[in-house]
Amino acid sequence: MRTITRVSEYREARNRLDGTVGFVPTMGYLHEGHLELVRWARRENNTVVVSIFVNPTQFGPGEDFERYPRDPERDLALLEKEQVDIVLYLQPGEMYPTGFNTWVEVLGITEQLEGKVRPGHFKGVTSVVAKLFNIVRPQCTYFGQKDAQQVAVIQKMVSDLNMDLKVVVVPTVREPDGLAMSSRNTYLNQGERQAALILWRSLNLARDLHSGGECGAEAIRQQMESMIGQELLAEIVYVSIADLTNLQEVDSIDKPCLVSLAVRIGRTRLIDNIVLGDQETPTIMS
Ligand code: PAJ
Repeated sequence: MRTITRVSEYREARNRLDGTVGFVPTMGYLHEGHLELVRWARRENNTVVVSIFVNPTQFGPGEDFERYPRDPERDLALLEKEQVDIVLYLQPGEMYPTGFNTWVEVLGITEQLEGKVRPGHFKGVTSVVAKLFNIVRPQCTYFGQKDAQQVAVIQKMVSDLNMDLKVVVVPTVREPDGLAMSSRNTYLNQGERQAALILWRSLNLARDLHSGGECGAEAIRQQMESMIGQELLAEIVYVSIADLTNLQEVDSIDKPCLVSLAVRIGRTRLIDNIVLGDQETPTIMS
């Protein structure tokens, strides 16, 4: 495994590669969710490239950029075990040199859900991911269903800008009790960790209600909200049942829908989602 810190050095290495390059962009502090993406990339490509970059432009003022967990040594050891070929470990000055002033922004689907409560977030994500795609030049890239809106936004960018690569979506990897793995779970104390289960429990409630014949989005949303309301440490940011293609809220679930939510547990904002309808994705429990 080779760790590369300069774009120019990567470019030289890339020019010597044959076959397909599979690329997994991350912000590090890796867990089984990230590693599942890496394993999919490993199975399907000749060369696997993983980037680790905590991207300042996707964090809003007052968000957790400074305290975002970082442990590059541990990350590199985990990636070595997964037989990654190249780790791209660029510094902010390399990614955003003085005078940097070009942005990539997807409109429309970035206005709902995460985009609504984190203004500017997706502009930061699409700009850095577009740059990374240009640098890495992969044939395939791997994203987690855990961040469902991010997947939709990246797919839209790739399609609208004719980027020549395939976006593979990997199902959400969960802890044995159902909590979706996230680097931010490390912020939770013991009581909060227990309370965080309310996200998965309320998503299961939605699934059960729907499979029991309930198609009214408002009825399902209300029952989810009342379940979450009973958890004292939880504060709802949003609960959404939206059309899978345009992320607009729906009245009734008569085609595949994304049930997603953001909940604050103490100081930590967690997100999770499931798809209801025929495109339902399997769940991976670690
Ligand atoms: P990060 O939060 O580090 O996530 C990197 C990738 O891992 C994303 O595609 C995310 O959806 C996926 N992932 C995270 N938790 C997962 C889980 N429990 N199961 C499956 N996949 C999971 O997402 C980002 O970084 C950044 O926005 C990035 C795309 C790197 C741009 O800066």
